[in-house]
Formats: sequence, structure tokens, C-alpha cells
Amino acid sequence: MEGRFTSIVPIRWNDGRGEIVWLDNTQIPWKELYNSTKDLDRLIKAIQALEIRGAPILGEAGAYGTAMIANNTAGTPDQILKNIDKMGKRLAEARPTAVNLSWGVHKVQEAVKAAVERGESSDAIKELAVSTAKRVQEDNIAATHRIGEAGKHLVHDGDVLVTVCNAGTLACDGIGTSTAPLRAAWADGIRFKTLVAYTAPLYQGARLTAWELHKDGIPVNVITDNMAGHLMHEERATAVWAGADRILCNKSDESGTVYNKIGTYGLALMANSLRQEGTDVKMYVAAPTSTIDTKGTVADVRIEQRKPYEVEYLFNGTRIVPEGVGVLNPAFDRTPPNLVSAIVTELGVAEFPYDRSLKGFIEQSAMHAKK
Ligand code: MRU
Repeated sequence: MEGRFTSIVPIRWNDGRGEIVWLDNTQIPWKELYNSTKDLDRLIKAIQALEIRGAPILGEAGAYGTAMIANNTAGTPDQILKNIDKMGKRLAEARPTAVNLSWGVHKVQEAVKAAVERGESSDAIKELAVSTAKRVQEDNIAATHRIGEAGKHLVHDGDVLVTVCNAGTLACDGIGTSTAPLRAAWADGIRFKTLVAYTAPLYQGARLTAWELHKDGIPVNVITDNMAGHLMHEERATAVWAGADRILCNKSDESGTVYNKIGTYGLALMANSLRQEGTDVKMYVAAPTSTIDTKGTVADVRIEQRKPYEVEYLFNGTRIVPEGVGVLNPAFDRTPPNLVSAIVTELGVAEFPYDRSLKGFIEQSAMHAKK
């Protein structure tokens, strides 16, 4: 499995130039364009424009961005610490919903803080910041492979699997999160087909997931979002596979609440409705434990509201909504835990009720370890 499905490098640190390089997600599938920067404003712009996107990659961007701030600071260890605190906050707030972005920033901040307390030199601290960010990326990649192994038994011959948004390599590195069990099962010879939901308004499903799975030779049928109910019924869908931007694990009755790309909640409701009619359609969520939020509650989580033009205009620039008409554009939605059949993490599969199982994973999670 290692080495398969992994030719895409969504983000990396260029040691020679001291800059971040990323594959621009807004250009896929038309162009494989790599952009780079040493500048925090440019990085934030890339995150907000979704050149860099998807929860785990945002974690890597947060970590590399914080290392970049450290490397850009000419000064004492205390000045580096001050800069990564102040500018790291701006970076962590570039997008509000995926918890991984601030998680990645904090990983490097914590490492730098400990090095400053140990009395290390500025040069040593800068090197440590970069090596910590690289470790965040390595851990992310390893987690995707473990998610694949943990979840592949949930994928069976003849399955019809619905996907939403893109929780593949472009969003998560490695073999993706919700794509990981699919890829691992495919590598083991399990054969299934996919219904890949468009995921309007930015078409991460049609553009990105279809591109990735097609490259792998996995059968893809792209569907528009409003075809989902009809086709899940007619094509006898067996499961929906979604990623997550944040999974709550704080108040016990909210544990297992999943924030993910807009449309996920609708698919969960459809799967639930089909189950009640007697067709067993599972609603699976796959994410690394870095996506689990142990502090937030439903009342705290901010769902990003994006600019109206994403809904008003097609990708080719044609306006499709009449001038003067109101538009809503929430980027994410919230799926309550009782609609989620299982949550696949790098530490295993959690099932409803999620409080105890997710808390158990947090205790074991290297991603949540203090050092
Ligand atoms: O707005 P995006 O493209 O960053 O949203 C990404 C998603 O919602 C993904 O499904 C999610 O991050 C889970 S896996 C990366």
C-alpha cells in the first residue's frame, strides 16, 4: 500500500529556499500548478482562496507557516517566540472551522517555546521549527495509511459508495482520509463503484476527488448534489464516506458531532432515511485524531460563511444568479452524532455513542501529546 496512490505532493517545505510550496487546488483538474511563498500574507491568501485546503493539509500549512514566521525573524529567541505568537494567531484564524489549522500552528509554537526555555540559539530554534513542521506532515501521512488499514474492512465487494467534497490526498496528504479505506480495500482486490458528489459551489468532488480516484483506476461516477437521494436509492448505495473538519469530543452528548463540507448533513439524513426504510446505508466519517476538538462545543464552533460570488457565478465567470438577489454560502454543516454510523481514525473505529471511544483515542493519540 505504501508508495501506491501517493504520487501527489500537496505541500512541502523547500529547504534550499526556506519557503512553502503547494499544489494549487483551484487549478485542478486543468493544471498541476505549484505555488510558493515566504510571505505570511500570501500564505493566508492561499488558504482563504482554497489553493491550500482540507483539514489535515491546513494543519500542515499551519505548522509550515509558523516555521516560516520563525525563519523570517532576524533576532533573539524571545523575538522569534513573540513573532510566532502574534503572527501565528493571524495564521490560525485564516479559516475558522477546521480545527487542524490552529492545531498545526500550536504544534510548532509549543516546540519553539520549549526550546526558548531551554536557552537554545535562534538558529537552532529555526531549525527545530522546520523539523517540527516536517514531523507534523510525516505524522499526517502515516495517519492516513493507518486510517486506511483501520477502515478497509468496512468496504465490500459490490459496494456503491457516495463521497462528498475532497478528503483525498489533496486535502489530507498520504492516501487521504475518507479515501484511505477505499484505496486500501481497492489495493486488496475489493471492487466497488463510487458516486462522487459535485459539492457545489466550488466542486471539490467533481474536480478533485474525481481527479484523484480516476488516476488510481477506481471507477468514478460524478453526480450533481441534487441527484444524491434519487441515485442512492436507485443505485442501491451502501455507504457515504465523508471526511471532517472538526469532530467534537468535549460535552458527552455532543461527542461525535461532525463538521464537514456543506452537503454532508444532507447525505447523512438521506442515509438515515434509507435505513429507516430498511436499506442499510452507512454514514462513515474518516479523520485523524488531530481533527478531534476536545475543548469546543456546538455553541462555540463558527461555520465559515464564504463570499456570495462563489454561488452567483459559474467557474467560467458566467453570472447565473440575477443581480440584487440574496445568496447564502455556508462552507460547512454540522452532522449530529446519532446520524454517524462510525468514525474511522488512525487509532481505530469508533461507534455511537462516541464520548468514551473518542476520549480513549485522545488519551492514546500522539497527535494530542503535549511533547
Ligand atoms: O472548504 P474545504 O475544501 O477546505 O473543505 C474541505 C472539506 O470539507 C473536507 O471534506 C474536509 O476537510 C475533510 S477532509 C480533509
